[in-house]
Amino acid sequence: MDSPQPTKVTFFSGEEIPLELHKVRVVQKLNLIPIEERLKAIIEGGFNTFLLTTKTVFLDMLTDSGTNAMSDNQVASMLRADDAYAGSQSYMRLEQAIQDVFNCKYYLPVHQGRAAENIISKVFIKPGDVVPMNYHFTTTKAHIELNGGTIFEIYTDEALKVKSTNPFKGNLDLNKLKEIIKKYGPGKVAYIRLEASTNLIGGQPFSMANMREVRKIANEHGLMIVLDASLIGENAFFIKEREPEFKNKTIKEILHEMIGLADLTYFSSRKVSSTRGGGMCTNNEQIYKKLKDWVPLFEGFYTYGGMSIREVEAMAVGLAETLDETIIGQSPSFIRYMVNELDRLGLPVVTPAGGLGVHIDAGQFLSHVPQTEYPAGALAAAYFLVSGVRGMERGTISSVRDANGNDVLADIELLRLAMPRRVFTLSQVKYAIDRLHWLYRNRQLVGGLRFYEEPPVLRFFGGKLEPTSPWPEKLVAKFRQDFGDSL
Ligand code: F0G
Repeated sequence: MDSPQPTKVTFFSGEEIPLELHKVRVVQKLNLIPIEERLKAIIEGGFNTFLLTTKTVFLDMLTDSGTNAMSDNQVASMLRADDAYAGSQSYMRLEQAIQDVFNCKYYLPVHQGRAAENIISKVFIKPGDVVPMNYHFTTTKAHIELNGGTIFEIYTDEALKVKSTNPFKGNLDLNKLKEIIKKYGPGKVAYIRLEASTNLIGGQPFSMANMREVRKIANEHGLMIVLDASLIGENAFFIKEREPEFKNKTIKEILHEMIGLADLTYFSSRKVSSTRGGGMCTNNEQIYKKLKDWVPLFEGFYTYGGMSIREVEAMAVGLAETLDETIIGQSPSFIRYMVNELDRLGLPVVTPAGGLGVHIDAGQFLSHVPQTEYPAGALAAAYFLVSGVRGMERGTISSVRDANGNDVLADIELLRLAMPRRVFTLSQVKYAIDRLHWLYRNRQLVGGLRFYEEPPVLRFFGGKLEPTSPWPEKLVAKFRQDFGDSL
């Protein structure tokens, strides 16, 4: 028999449920307020879940960014922070953790992931360059374009299929990569970007086999691979779980191989180490030297990079904890439970389950709402209204307008329900499933949205919208009819 999987617990009853392999020692009271008060809150927030105050939110599934639960050892480490502008011992411990966990000799700290994207784009992108990648992230795309580059998303045909059994929907299409290199010439390709647990297509991983092939192509043309490792723990976990060659490998071995296949790795520590902060690391001295000088200008001195020293300490511990499968497997196992339940109930949910969160296909859920009336935004608002669960719109509201002022319609309208690590219990997840199921059965009551205040850039953060008909009031009335005086 193979050695037991460290995150697998089989129940006598046959039920397939994830088991919390941690205990709760600090708690925060939550607010589950009546639906009538949530109606007021969502109206005030312009039907934009970013504009809600947490006093009105029950389960905050907006993001896992900076909201994962820290471990006792992380919190304890913050007390021994060696506060110093330069040469802090806390930084030395972080550098050591980067060497151990990522096997990278050179590390540069930044205050969060997008700050690394700013410096990398500034250094490596010239106007007219192209950057092929498995999929964009909002801030990544903006930084590349700001420096005159163009991105090409060369995902495989499986990537945007809502229902799929493909274990690696985050793979890069190798033929499309070769075509781009041929069309533009290697001199115009600034670098190839791979994003671990590809965020905007549903937290979907790529395989090691795919990354090895990308490396071969990069070598043939002398190109650099930049790895976005913000969700690398989860991607490594999926490689171990889904790619037979890695079944008996440790997470450390998998991480070392992934990072060894890249020339430059950067990350948001708001995700990977359950803290705040970020960084860039490499084993290539030339690359390190090119990036280094920009850190004190944009971020802070080389030994803190805009982070508080307390965070630097907690990050070192959090990175080391990334090697523990019971920690990095917690969020994927809760996500898998929720995805499987929603799928069983017939809801349009992205499969297979990935990292980061649960993704609902709002285009199918609200098929009667035209894409120009933002079905993913309407679903996010309606779900908050009936449950107090706050998700994030990832559809046309997160897109932009073209030169004629028309919406550039998103490839796919998603409602993302993030599952921050070790934050929610199983009964809370069951509540989230229950209310979403009820909403699905009553989906005809939900209508569309239109902007009445629309910022010119990143409109999804601060934009305000209103319903195109009085559907929210109808939804409240139906909720009361079905749930009586329940919260
Ligand atoms: N890359 C990826 C893959 C990300 O998911 C994020 C952030 C960033 C880069 C930027 O990092 O926020 O530290 O500046 N994702 C967050 C989210 C915001 O909610 O998914 P950051």
